[in-house]
Amino acid sequence: MEKRSQWGTRLGFLLAAMGSAIGLGNIWRFPATAFENGGGAFFIPYLFALLTAGIPMLIMEYTIGHKYRSSAPRAFKRISPGMEWIGWWQVAVSFVISTYYPIIVSWAIMYTYFSFGQDWGNDATTFFIEDFLSVSEAGVFGSMVPAVLIPLIAVWIIVFFILFRGVKRGIELANKIFIPILIISFLLIVIRAITLPGALTGLDEFFAPDWSSIADGSVWVAAYGQIFFSLSIAFAIMITFSSYLPKKSDITNNAFITGFANSSFELLAGIGVFAALGFMANQTGQQVSDVVESGVGLAFMVFPEIISQMPASGFFGTLFFGSLVLAGLSSMVSISETYIAGLREKFNLSRRAAVTVGTSLAAAISLLYANQGGLNLLDTVDYFINNYGVALVGLFEIVAIAWFAREVNQLQTHANSVSDIRLGAWWKFSLRVITPLVLGYMMILNLRTDMT
Ligand code: PHE
Ligand code: NA
Repeated sequence: MEKRSQWGTRLGFLLAAMGSAIGLGNIWRFPATAFENGGGAFFIPYLFALLTAGIPMLIMEYTIGHKYRSSAPRAFKRISPGMEWIGWWQVAVSFVISTYYPIIVSWAIMYTYFSFGQDWGNDATTFFIEDFLSVSEAGVFGSMVPAVLIPLIAVWIIVFFILFRGVKRGIELANKIFIPILIISFLLIVIRAITLPGALTGLDEFFAPDWSSIADGSVWVAAYGQIFFSLSIAFAIMITFSSYLPKKSDITNNAFITGFANSSFELLAGIGVFAALGFMANQTGQQVSDVVESGVGLAFMVFPEIISQMPASGFFGTLFFGSLVLAGLSSMVSISETYIAGLREKFNLSRRAAVTVGTSLAAAISLLYANQGGLNLLDTVDYFINNYGVALVGLFEIVAIAWFAREVNQLQTHANSVSDIRLGAWWKFSLRVITPLVLGYMMILNLRTDMT
């Protein structure tokens, strides 16, 4: 076994963790979630969720990775042999996500290219569903092969090389390049968006507080759900990344920085998206609430139309879809590293062997989505993975660790021995009581909605 790899600098680790956290969830999930769950009033449950679940769990995962210097499966096994499966479950969830995430990144690559000529024409929705997703004449190698195959292969080659080069020369270096470019591009888009006509109406709608929402349990669940997904918690990612930290590393501080950086980006995205939606409503004479969308619909159906109506559309289209590509790629690298690390340790493989096996397998499966039915399949898999896969294993993780008194005390001592900020009652109470209650409630709500 080679010596365990390490990050070159603290900033390198932080950029990699932010690269994982900052993703499509910030750009296309947060804005609509906040809007639909109380607007300005949503920030109260959201901030609560960040401070009582997001950051405490991030501290816990960073401490596990740092203390046991292992990928998730081996780290849980070291805590207790009966817990190894929790790590594998998380790795499996990440593996599944890594088979459809690159499809979205590939769409974003195609749309970056389409931005130059606004290939989507006057009806971006029809274009996306009927022309783009079908096996169209735009297909390569004859009509049977969808055009998305070329960017998809490119994405896998990029991910393969980043992971192949290792922690410092691959993951860290890539994020040192991607994240600054992402932040600058995104800032430019947001500045442009808030200066468009109608932008302020959009922002008014976004921030208008519906105070009654605070009394609604489902709003709190939405806030915690957003925080878990957005901080890449319970995906084996943060344990894996922190296992590459040098012995002397401030854990608690790093968790606060990651958490606040991710939320800042999320807020920025909310402002940018709603300014742009306000502009769109203004152009078409609609209400902002009529044009609000999230996910694939927001990115590939609503945004192309907004971009077409903007001055310098080619430039801003490139910035927007380019941002999606960078945000997606850095998250993609982080989810893939979980099974690379897991495989390496389990089968005593070299990094190169594990990367080759892991990415080839995921790439082969990703082809399943590269066709007409791809979007539906992607939606279904994404729904189950997020609502059951992650929430459930998150609950198992928190119960296994936080209610295992000896372990939680040891983690506390470990984190305190390297960090400036001391962990005390707040941390334990969040982990032992608040987070399990919310996750349990979340599971019940999900089951109830799906049964009816
Ligand atoms: N944290 C990412 C986001 O907010 C989503 C993600 C979760 C990415 C898990 C990879 C793995 O978009
Ligand atoms: Na995020």
